[in-house]
Amino acid sequence: MVLQAAAWPCLSVLAQTRQEPGLREYAAKAGLLYGAAAAWPVLRDDADYAAAFARECNILVPENVLKMGPVQPSPGVFRFEPADFMADFCRQHNMRMRGHTLVWHTQMWPWFKTEVNAGNAKKYLEEHILTVAGRYRGRMHSWDVVNEAVHPRDGREDGLRVTPWLELLGPGYIELAFRMAHSADPDARLTYNDYGLDYDTPEQEAKRRAVLRLLRSLKERDVPIHAFGMQAHLDWAAFRNFKADILQAFFREVASLGLEIYITELDVADRELPDDIAERDEAIARVYETYLTAALQEPAVKAVLTWGLTDKYTWLAGRQRRPSGTPVRVLPLDRDFQRKPAWQAIRRVFLAAPPRKA
Ligand code: XIL
Repeated sequence: MVLQAAAWPCLSVLAQTRQEPGLREYAAKAGLLYGAAAAWPVLRDDADYAAAFARECNILVPENVLKMGPVQPSPGVFRFEPADFMADFCRQHNMRMRGHTLVWHTQMWPWFKTEVNAGNAKKYLEEHILTVAGRYRGRMHSWDVVNEAVHPRDGREDGLRVTPWLELLGPGYIELAFRMAHSADPDARLTYNDYGLDYDTPEQEAKRRAVLRLLRSLKERDVPIHAFGMQAHLDWAAFRNFKADILQAFFREVASLGLEIYITELDVADRELPDDIAERDEAIARVYETYLTAALQEPAVKAVLTWGLTDKYTWLAGRQRRPSGTPVRVLPLDRDFQRKPAWQAIRRVFLAAPPRKA
């Protein structure tokens, strides 16, 4: 009896030490945050998913539930239960939280078209930001204040996207949003977040110039902005246009404005890869490793988030369906929450990353 009682604790300690740490620990050693977008309601309902999340991540961003439409489904009516659940989950698991996103042109208030006009747009926007950012005051690591406001293809000289907000309030809506967010939550690092900036193509170069122009003009006017969010929705086939020095030069310019950089929505579409799983996983892992190795050379990069954690829950399943119909394999964990070569690649990048202050 005595022998047995003494033996069991040893065994369980052995089992624990054998278990490989999560990416959050490798990230922390490099002075970085690692996390993912969390899906609702599965974070509440799928215990294995929640356990994997807690094991791997030290920062969480709600995938949809803080966007304008989901969080304010009718005027003045706010739905906070899902994000409140996530905020509690973060507290329980010693994890930071990002807010996404206060102002965007899609997933908008369903009542926008009937209620909002040039006369009341400013009031509605201000109230939205004060209410939503105010609810999580002091609890957010950072907020994506404005998402995807640059789109040179729309033909404006300043490169801004023609959105309902721009049409109703003019380009000043961006500055207004940052000022409101800062008064609602003075501790959150306020972020401008955008996509389509990863490759060495003329179109993406034009967009990088336009983003820099926006960031520069905000800083010149002393707008409270602290970070730039690089979405980094990558694609295996398009990745032939990736050049590390182009990405690094862009990050240098962003950092020279005094901004931190977060990789906010990393995933790698596998549409054009063959079905063979081993081959596909290796190819996707190489993209993760190449991109993150280049990105983390820039000391201003402080956080890496993938847009989802597991192939079980990823927007790419619908958005980048494979021609053969086989399930996508685009994130660090597979559908059974097992670690894939992409997970190993991210781990290697964190181990090799130049250390930085958290
Ligand atoms: C996506 C979500 O993942 C989907 O579930 C939703 O249907 C559409 O939005 N850029 C962003 C994210 O900033 O908010 C988007 O998220 C993906 C692209």
